[in-house]
Amino acid sequence: MARAGGKIILLGEHAVVYGVPAIAAGIARGAEAEASTAPRAVLEIERLGRFRSGEPHDTARAFSALLAALSAPPCAVRARLELPPGCGLGGSAALGVAIARAVLDHLGTPHEAEDARVLKATEAWETVFHGNPSGIDAAAAARGGCIQFRRGHPPEPLPVKVALTVAICLAGPASSTREMVAGVARLRERRPQVVDKALEGIHALVKNARLAIGAGDLPALGRLLDLNQMLLSGLFVSTESIERCCSLARDAGALGAKLTGAGGGGAVLALIDGDATPVLDAWHAAGFEAFETRVAATP
Ligand code: MEV
Repeated sequence: MARAGGKIILLGEHAVVYGVPAIAAGIARGAEAEASTAPRAVLEIERLGRFRSGEPHDTARAFSALLAALSAPPCAVRARLELPPGCGLGGSAALGVAIARAVLDHLGTPHEAEDARVLKATEAWETVFHGNPSGIDAAAAARGGCIQFRRGHPPEPLPVKVALTVAICLAGPASSTREMVAGVARLRERRPQVVDKALEGIHALVKNARLAIGAGDLPALGRLLDLNQMLLSGLFVSTESIERCCSLARDAGALGAKLTGAGGGGAVLALIDGDATPVLDAWHAAGFEAFETRVAATP
């Protein structure tokens, strides 16, 4: 089985579509896939969770685009998604990477030496689902670890001084990245100054977050997450449920909390100093699904 992880965006979602750098990290949960010989292209996906995903029609088109990008002949792929789709945790990119890796392995081209092809194929897959993706989800799923991503540039691995404990909650419901990105684009057409000011603000937060991650300054990073959440609310991508999950996390001792991914529902992340149990308990008690992930320290 070929595997790929999902991702969290620590800071910079939406702004990254407009060329602002963003910081993302791979998470262990993701997708796995296996390919076999078949006379025509068939993709079966076993999904997890209560969220609805993209239309089957989109999935078939995305699979064709992925095979074409790999210049691969038709084959059958069975895949399993370990993340709820439509929740901002990079489930579709993880699937794209796992499927591309499985197809290459099946063709006898071990995927380990083929990162660039895997990324290109995943971008083709993601474009069918998301329309105008920045590429951050595909880069984070293909690379793992903590990265700074700027549209059109290769992802830059970021040194992480102290491992980050992150609690993740499914604020829900599932949302469409394509629609959320289009909503921000419409807002920018109507009120360019307001949106551009927010993008500048997010850019400054990302620069500071990079320093905080490099220095292991978790309280500073937490405050930057909170500020990023405020600017995302100003772009109208937050919801009542997201705000509630952020407040529950902060009240339970999180250093900072924000939506992660496209917003409009989906997931919230909270940075934890020490034990994530109080934050996870607060979310569970309020009826939300939640789990913990870690971003490892790197040299
Ligand atoms: C989605 O995970 C992140 C967005 O910035 C869209 C993108 O970058 O393609 C909302």
